[in-house]
Amino acid sequence: MTLSVKDILSQKPIGTTIELKGWVRTFRSNRFIAISDGSTIKTVQAVIDFENVAEETLKKISTGAAIQVKGDLLSSLGKGQDVEIQVTEITVLGESNPEEYPLQPKKHSLEFLREIAHLRMRTNTFGAIMRVRHSLAFAVHHYFNSKQFFYLHTPIITGSDAEGAGEMFNVSILDKKNPPLKDDGSIDYSKDFFEKETNLTVSGQLEAELGAMALSKVYTFGPTFRAENSNTSRHLAEFWMIEPEVAFADLNDNMDLAEDFLKYVIRYTLEHCADDLEFLEKRLLDEEKSKPEKDRSPQALREKLQFVADNNFRRVSYTEAIDILRNSKPNKKKKFKYLIEEWGADLQSEHEKFLVQHFNAPVILFDYPATIKAFYMRLNEDEKTVRAMDILFPGIGEIVGGSQREERHDVLLGKMNDFDIDQKELQWYLDTRKFGTCVHSGFGLGFERLVLFATGMGNIRDVIPFPRTPGNAEF
Ligand code: 4AD
Ligand code: MG
Repeated sequence: MTLSVKDILSQKPIGTTIELKGWVRTFRSNRFIAISDGSTIKTVQAVIDFENVAEETLKKISTGAAIQVKGDLLSSLGKGQDVEIQVTEITVLGESNPEEYPLQPKKHSLEFLREIAHLRMRTNTFGAIMRVRHSLAFAVHHYFNSKQFFYLHTPIITGSDAEGAGEMFNVSILDKKNPPLKDDGSIDYSKDFFEKETNLTVSGQLEAELGAMALSKVYTFGPTFRAENSNTSRHLAEFWMIEPEVAFADLNDNMDLAEDFLKYVIRYTLEHCADDLEFLEKRLLDEEKSKPEKDRSPQALREKLQFVADNNFRRVSYTEAIDILRNSKPNKKKKFKYLIEEWGADLQSEHEKFLVQHFNAPVILFDYPATIKAFYMRLNEDEKTVRAMDILFPGIGEIVGGSQREERHDVLLGKMNDFDIDQKELQWYLDTRKFGTCVHSGFGLGFERLVLFATGMGNIRDVIPFPRTPGNAEF
């Protein structure tokens, strides 16, 4: 019977003969092999009788090697494990040269591991992160499916640059050295593959809205791309975004949905990733020991996740937030890099972090000035603010951005003119406002920011298998 490490440790079929394939984590005293197969953070101990193992096989058993063992599962007398495999047959499937293998059984820095991202998933830390990431993704689909949302696949290559969410990556097969030119000297994209200029999408929202106008409740969950040169611990050039879009829902419904959804996926992960979260929590405590007391998180990882799952998010209008910020200590003492002087200012991450600390809870900010938000957001009666919402999380800042959408054809047209957006380019988007328009809302959750929060990691490059950032597209 071939079992995974997870099966062995949960079923504990003591007395049966089992087979296990995995990689050697450690090999001690020519006798004890800790085998990992990634199914769980734990390893299974295999005990060999070295007198009965051929000398050349023994030599090949080293950290990183792929092996197959067969033997009886017994209760273990040793410390640290309940069961162990008494090996009767061992095969080295793939050797690993111990002199060259970069992952030694010791602590490696996250920076070093980023350079060997092709191997880092074999470490406890990255194995745990990837399993938590999977669990969160699974919970996302589970949540929406149970609420009668349909998973809509929106295009990755887009012909419009209307969203304005960020700089785009161009998609072209034209000859770079000698592109066809128009009379005015600019590149003639009508000669390109799609016969127009195309880019990688920054968001699936505009197409998701089309889906919501037919299926009522949809969500996207796909890769999005932004070519901003923002080399921060919160930005990737390629990241995954979850974007629900709901017909007949206003901004309050949107906030309710976002809050319920976030609590659900966090709770799901607390329930299903107990071992990994326990490990990540210890890792974080260790890491924080080297920080000054004031920079340490007041809650342990699982406590922080439970807190978010159990408590109401604070809903605060932009206007209220500006008052709080303007009168705050760091603003008065000029500690903020960007001082808040008047209503209309865009909020920076330092302000978002302050607000989360001030309320000691996740914060939903709503009703932002129209001038600092996208054209498609529903204009309020005051004609100054729009029905936007951003959700701010402890230690992360903005994790969700969304809004009620402008459903009135004439108002939307006016906004597009103000923002200098070509009507022809978005004729299909405007059409939904002509044929059965209705109140509707949605939001975008940056998946990696959620994984950052759930794992307690500090850098977004460490929560995606192969990060894409300015100057880095390795692997
Ligand atoms: O606030 P954003 O730009 O909103 C939109 O794109 C809307 N179209 C969403 C919608 O209403 N359907 O991005 C949404 C979220 C942000 O709150 C953030 O969590 C994440 O996407 N995000 C990034 N994550 C990683 N790297 C980047 N460069 C990101 N830019 C945005
Ligand atoms: Mg945003």
